[in-house]
Amino acid sequence: MDWVSIFPVGLLFILMLLLILKRQHVWKSHTKGNFPPGPRRLPIIGNLHIMDMKRPHLTMLELSKTYGPVFSIQMGPRKMVILSGYDTVKEALVNQADAFAGRPKIPILEETGKGKGVIFSDGENWKVMRRFTLTTLRDFGMGKKAIEDRVVEEYRCLGDTIEAQQGKPLEITLMMNAAVANIIVSILLGKRYDYEDPTFKKLLTLVHENIRLFGSPSLSIYNMFPVLGFLLKDHKTFKQNVKEINAFIKVTFIEHLKVLDRNDQRSFIDTFLVRQQEENGKANGYFHNENLTAVVRSLFAAGMETTSTTLRWGLLLMMKYPEIQKKVQDEIEQVIGSNPPRIEHRTQMPYTDAVVHEIQRFANILPVNLPHATTADVTFKGYFIPKGTYIIPLLTSVLHDKSQWEKPDMFYPEHFLDANGKFVKKDAFMPFSAGRRVCAGETLAKMELFLFFTSLLQRFTFHPPPGVSISDLDLSPAISFNIIPKPYKMCAVSRS
Ligand code: HEM
Repeated sequence: MDWVSIFPVGLLFILMLLLILKRQHVWKSHTKGNFPPGPRRLPIIGNLHIMDMKRPHLTMLELSKTYGPVFSIQMGPRKMVILSGYDTVKEALVNQADAFAGRPKIPILEETGKGKGVIFSDGENWKVMRRFTLTTLRDFGMGKKAIEDRVVEEYRCLGDTIEAQQGKPLEITLMMNAAVANIIVSILLGKRYDYEDPTFKKLLTLVHENIRLFGSPSLSIYNMFPVLGFLLKDHKTFKQNVKEINAFIKVTFIEHLKVLDRNDQRSFIDTFLVRQQEENGKANGYFHNENLTAVVRSLFAAGMETTSTTLRWGLLLMMKYPEIQKKVQDEIEQVIGSNPPRIEHRTQMPYTDAVVHEIQRFANILPVNLPHATTADVTFKGYFIPKGTYIIPLLTSVLHDKSQWEKPDMFYPEHFLDANGKFVKKDAFMPFSAGRRVCAGETLAKMELFLFFTSLLQRFTFHPPPGVSISDLDLSPAISFNIIPKPYKMCAVSRS
């Protein structure tokens, strides 16, 4: 390498160093009082050297043993405050809800979504988009019979597709993603797709890949040091995938626009477009195409990946614990028989309900939650946390809190059952988080989880493929932004 080619890289490095030192200075200048403690930071990298970049939540849990339930770390130039344990997370998200309801800016998402939409937006834009999202999801049947009917139709299609495998080993990820995605797609676009539809398959793959990339060490580094982007390739793939998803959404809403009838709104997109027309000409409006694209994209991703991942954990756990699978099937026989499972059955099925809750607790699919930010200077548990601080309400520390769960690290449905076998609610059951940012799709997700899970166990018994023993089944997760099971095959043996 000659000097001419090294020079720009060297210059960039020096600029980056200056930028980081400047940021650290700015931080210090407005950090008043008692900032939460944390491990000693190194220049530039902060605490990066002690983090398990593939599973940062494990390092955070370890650090909380030394520094307590409110502590800080520094990832590159960014300081973060970690909240650990049920009491602390609840105190922040529920009791001081407004102060902890912000979202920090994340470089890759700023570049691809410009802070629009609902999940990663903030301030007034977030409030308007969240209100619209919740109302419109409800209007299109979230938590009501209209959507229940859609789930019933979809679990039949999923069951038929699985049955066509005739008990041969199958990998279910794409099928499960398609079935679950069809529910949110029916609300967003007003239709369902065939699982083999090439456009649908492509979309599912792009979304799935981006969620994986979002949790990759390479993108985490990029989000800390965007200037290093030229050395990292994952962020390019991420951006290209977003472009392709956006192109699909644009074509779709143009199609909807052509036949839009304000008196016959058939989908979330229709309702958004009607609001857009009402707002037409207003300066500072919110119902523009950027928000539409970002909301649809994020609902599609949030609505598919989380529920589908939880169900895949559920089936893996049923293979691992056949005695639990059998007890669920016995309860299904007793209460539902061969009728189609409906949400009204849930109250009569405490064991199945407890198993579904325990799957969510044990699978712990969003261990670090989504990041929050303080919306004002806050005094919290004796510490001073300035406005705009990056906050991690560590969900894994709540779902595995030793003071709340009898056997936190085991799969134990009895966590949700009393001595008489009745279902009991647990305050520390927080897989959907809590407070102002609590998951906007919680009601829909709970309905989907119960109906898909029950219908699959009514129709099939799940076994490991021949040659694989129960002890071979691996419950350690694969690397992604969320905790997903490692790819596995299973045999779905028809029960009829
Ligand atoms: C098992 C399924 C699901 C789980 C475990 C889950 C979990 C979560 C969590 C932990 C958050 C972050 C909350 C926070 O920032 O404190 C979240 C946010 C969100 N989820 Fe879900 N979710 C699920 C399903 C869904 C579904 C089906 C939808 C779509 C209808 C959805 C839509 C959203 C939205 C829009 C947000 C952002 C809320 C905001 O920032 O105001 N989720 N979810």
